[in-house]
Amino acid sequence: MTLIDELHAEHDVIEQVAGALLTYAAASATVRSRDDGAAFLRFFRWYANRFHHAREEDTLFAALRDRAGLPADRGPIAAMIADHERMAELLAAFAAGLDLGADGDARLRECAIAYVHALWHHIDAENSVLFPECEPRLRRNGVTELASRPMTPDEGEALSAGQALVARYPPPPNPDVMRGDGCIMCPAFGVTCRGLELEWWNEWEWDEFEDRMNGG
Ligand SMILES: [Fe+2]
Ligand SMILES: [Fe+2]
Repeated sequence: MTLIDELHAEHDVIEQVAGALLTYAAASATVRSRDDGAAFLRFFRWYANRFHHAREEDTLFAALRDRAGLPADRGPIAAMIADHERMAELLAAFAAGLDLGADGDARLRECAIAYVHALWHHIDAENSVLFPECEPRLRRNGVTELASRPMTPDEGEALSAGQALVARYPPPPNPDVMRGDGCIMCPAFGVTCRGLELEWWNEWEWDEFEDRMNGG
């Protein structure tokens, strides 16, 4: 599905720019460019939020709810939407940290790390659990394609600026965070979401699973 392929590819860019943000925030305030800080903000606001997260919510998650009959008020979709909201708050905290100058160095770093780690966990959950599950579930309900849209000029500029930031602030090679695939690695697992099987599986998926376990 074109939209899912696009969203996947966008994750790769967002992930890289997030890594660059860590490198940017690690520099001391005396050498840190305020303009580059604003460019990071523009990238995450325009490209990650308004382009990427918005298409997930208004097209992909909406189709899962309306065409595949999956719940949006609990389970994986609700967890991903709550992540989008929480990340917007973390980004706002980072934006406020940019105004603190040298006195707010430690605070700015904390905000950047909190935002980037949340974003990475979110991308891992979507790449490893949500996206692979979407296509077969939509297909079974007769949905073979989902609409996408081109970037607006602001979103396109934010993307180019983001790519330039990755070149200027190479992401750390060994980021200090545990990442991984599957529900078990998702911070929402067992907190606001009981995991894919309990939230999304229907009767015949459970029957099939039991048959397999019984060697059938
Ligand atoms: Fe998302
Ligand atoms: Fe995403």
